[in-house]
Amino acid sequence: MIKILGIAGSPRQNGNTTLLLDEALKGAKEAGASVNKIVLCNREINPCLGCGTCQKEGYCVQEDGMDKIYNATCSSLGIVLAAPIYFNSLNAQTKAFIDRHQCVWARKDVFGEEVTDPETRHARRGLFLAAAGADDHRVFDGALRVVDIFLDVLDVKYYERLLFFRIEKKGAIKTHPTALRDARVAGEHMVIEIARSLGESID
Ligand SMILES: Cc1cc2nc3c(=O)[nH]c(=O)nc-3n(C[C@H](O)[C@H](O)[C@H](O)COP(=O)(O)O)c2cc1C
Repeated sequence: MIKILGIAGSPRQNGNTTLLLDEALKGAKEAGASVNKIVLCNREINPCLGCGTCQKEGYCVQEDGMDKIYNATCSSLGIVLAAPIYFNSLNAQTKAFIDRHQCVWARKDVFGEEVTDPETRHARRGLFLAAAGADDHRVFDGALRVVDIFLDVLDVKYYERLLFFRIEKKGAIKTHPTALRDARVAGEHMVIEIARSLGESID
């Protein structure tokens, strides 16, 4: 079964991006995937210490909630990352989670290890869901550059990015004419594309 990992980056419970994520995961499930959702603010995820141990030894010295997450990010064939824009970038919890993948980067690029399965790597796909209050789509530029490199470290190709601006208040995404449906369809279609890449058929 195709495994999809949903990552809720917002600290706001049932905030706009988490609502989008939930729809995307519903769509993925409808397409036959097994889904797993991680809410970052419910986990203990410390920021990277920049100690450099991962570049020398290939592992992170910190023992916290990330220990269980690495396996999920490296083994799930689909990654759905949902995060709000804070100060023109990703919010802190999401950025800390991404920074903590420096040890995955080190294993791959310094030590030459396979961090993902070579047999299924070509099928790995990512969906980025974001919301911002500003009335200007350029508000996403900084976050997009971060997400690009994060997905690249995980050998994930973009399936789609759904970026919603002028979405400020909690729940505002529900007033958008298509956002929740777009997220659901994207989740469903991403799984179909992964399945096609694997040569599986979905009924
Ligand atoms: C600390 C903080 C910083 C923010 N910075 C920005 C910003 O730079 N640009 C913007 O358009 N919206 C900004 N916002 C608004 C959020 O991006 C917006 O409310 C979004 O819908 C939140 O998504 P969520 O409900 O999933 O947390 C900020 C919100 C907070 C709390």
